[in-house]
Amino acid sequence: MLDIYKLGDEVLREECSDVTEFDDSLKMLAEAMIDTLEEADGVGLAGPQVGVSKKIFVVHIRGNEPIVFVNPQITATSMETGVYEEGCLSIPGVYHDVIRPVRVSIQAQDLKGKVFNIDADGPLARVIQHENDHLYGKLYIDHLDERERDKVVHQYEKKNRIRRHQKSRV
Ligand code: NI
Repeated sequence: MLDIYKLGDEVLREECSDVTEFDDSLKMLAEAMIDTLEEADGVGLAGPQVGVSKKIFVVHIRGNEPIVFVNPQITATSMETGVYEEGCLSIPGVYHDVIRPVRVSIQAQDLKGKVFNIDADGPLARVIQHENDHLYGKLYIDHLDERERDKVVHQYEKKNRIRRHQKSRV
């Protein structure tokens, strides 16, 4: 399993570089990310979240095969937007409504470098946008207004202090 970097870690705020080598180490990274995602019971995980500042993310909506996106680009977004409660494995334990387009088209490469396109709606469209943001150092809390963002960060910090406290008593 890979370590998941948390809010405050600089790597989460960096813009990722393109993947240029479609080799075994990329395949191994993707497999480890899919395993880590499953272990963490999440639906999406991006390179920076495991300390790799490269344009790669994995999405695994339960009941579907996991999908690996390399060097993705969102090519179209719907005018129609929707509200959905999001969380992030890098900000565990807190959630907040986020407004985003309900449909997106995305172009990406697979692990062999082959280009593919997906037109997504529903949960897949939501996760794609959330993960794609990670590749540009952006987190879902950045979509909130300042007051809401402060509230979420405060909740997260409070939960974290409680967890550390409990651990130290054991
Ligand atoms: Ni996230």
